[in-house]
Amino acid sequence: YIGKKQAAPILLRGLEKLEYRGYDSAGIAVRENSAPDAKINIVKAKGRLKALLEKTDCGRAVPGLCGIGHTRWATHGEPSELNAHPHCTDDLSVVLVHNGIIENYQEIREKLTKSGYRFYSQTDTEAAVKLIDSYYKQSGEPLTAISQAMLRIRGSYAFAMMFRDFPDSLFVARKDSPLIIGQNGDGCYIASDVPAILDSTRTVYYIGNLEMAQLTAGAVHFYNIDREEIEKEPVQIQWDAESAEKGGYEHFMLKEIHEQPQAVRDTIQSYLNEQGEIDFSAASLDDAFLKQLERIYFVACGSAYHVGVAAQYVLEDLAKIPVRVELASEFRYRDPLVPENTLVVIISQSGETADSLAALRKAKEQGAKTLAIVNVVGSTIAREADYVFYTLAGPEIAVATTKAYSAQLLAVYALAIAFAQDRGQLTDDQAAALVQELESLPGKMERLLEDEERIQWFASKQIAAKDIFFIGRGLDYAISLEGSLKMKEISYIHSEAYAAGELKHGPISLIEPGTLVIAVATIPSLFDKTMANIREVKARGAKVLCLTLESMAQEAGKTADYVLPIPETHPLLQPSLNVIPLQVLAYYAALARGCDVDKPRNLAKSVTVE
Ligand code: G6P
Repeated sequence: YIGKKQAAPILLRGLEKLEYRGYDSAGIAVRENSAPDAKINIVKAKGRLKALLEKTDCGRAVPGLCGIGHTRWATHGEPSELNAHPHCTDDLSVVLVHNGIIENYQEIREKLTKSGYRFYSQTDTEAAVKLIDSYYKQSGEPLTAISQAMLRIRGSYAFAMMFRDFPDSLFVARKDSPLIIGQNGDGCYIASDVPAILDSTRTVYYIGNLEMAQLTAGAVHFYNIDREEIEKEPVQIQWDAESAEKGGYEHFMLKEIHEQPQAVRDTIQSYLNEQGEIDFSAASLDDAFLKQLERIYFVACGSAYHVGVAAQYVLEDLAKIPVRVELASEFRYRDPLVPENTLVVIISQSGETADSLAALRKAKEQGAKTLAIVNVVGSTIAREADYVFYTLAGPEIAVATTKAYSAQLLAVYALAIAFAQDRGQLTDDQAAALVQELESLPGKMERLLEDEERIQWFASKQIAAKDIFFIGRGLDYAISLEGSLKMKEISYIHSEAYAAGELKHGPISLIEPGTLVIAVATIPSLFDKTMANIREVKARGAKVLCLTLESMAQEAGKTADYVLPIPETHPLLQPSLNVIPLQVLAYYAALARGCDVDKPRNLAKSVTVE
């Protein structure tokens, strides 16, 4: 922040708003005043932000109107005060915070060591700040120094910098890591995501790749890497600040679980035209290309990948288009065959996941058309893809995704219906019936959420479980993957998801008396098969909870120990309902075990580094 107000409390508040992303240490640097010889005070603390708040007396102990702050998620070197940002030169001529990874930091570090620089931390960031300083010592001009360093550095970065001799300015530079700039009458703000500054301003500039900016209390100037000034239009953020607050819920995750009916409702509405038909013309999907479409890839990470797994079943079934689903971290490093007429769909809540972004670029390089299903407006993936479908889940704060996952599923359904119609696989009446079914989902989700106490009771009985196996077939398998991920992410109970038919090929050897198996069996044609799997694990001592349709609950009760009935919808849309009890179960299991539900250990909300 740079402006008229005290910087430290603004920095700390901003860091607090981004705490949900996960971090292990934090730090701030604040310039005492704007005299050329004014001190820049740096305070760092390992662990939660609370430690930094205590150390700085909530910012009061570090006065000044200009400063930078950072929370670190360790990539190079352990979490420690020494490795925490800001990093600086010995003479404090440059002070810097960094998100991203400098790939050639070893080489830079060795060269700089030879020319007399000393290094104290294990971070890649320290190489960046000292490299910029070495150029700065030659030209005395920050933008020149930064642009020279940008040419030398390989990797990704969002830098925010203070130069001792430029008391009235902050500088930023960006490549591949998220960075936004906000402005209001009080000053200018730099952040890696909108929630950090939402209570101060809604006027935001997106800075592009390989661009720099100089911020003063009253203005922002943007430059390309050749230091030519470039014009940028500000964007008004529409989110309301409340949606980034807990609103009476104990945790963001529980609030977001309950926001799913709304997220789904809003997302459906955004895809429908006045006649109530799915209409993607806003995304300018080109009709001629769609007619020739021969294959679709879904590429994503984490829960978004699980949406892709469901998408494979749904699109092949409904639109009869061959689909492949791949992890972005795999796709980016192989030579995928992307023949002509292939659409690559990248699914990402944040729109900033490093592997997903790299996969998008790879797909474009190979000549594929790309479509992004993204929640964060203006994010890098949204900007770089050929087409964008936004999910309207609103800001998602809990690290473990819930409402964004549900909105992504919805986007996939809408895509499948539109493609199926386009390719003559669905009549207009059939498509209208499916849209009607989509519109009934939020109400059914609400009904499921009213039954939360039963799941809470079950979760409290299972908190001692050492292992949980999730099994299912078809789309029930796709949902088992997500249920298992939720469980392990936040409760730290070891869990695995298996296609029920695979049990015999290995995992059944792990079943012991008392092992918990959660079977998802909501597909009538596969019900008997899954019941047979339940009998197999029960014969080896497992306790089984079965999720099934209300109409099949009684039958399931003859085999499973516990049954959780789910309202019924079109079989292809059933995952939207099935996932909810699994999210609630993971939440209450984590709560009962005393885990930090919103900020699980070692995890980050936006994984912007590899
Ligand atoms: C992290 C989050 C997950 C998320 C994944 C992909 O691991 O904790 O909840 O599914 O990243 O994130 P994206 O923003 O690309 O959907």
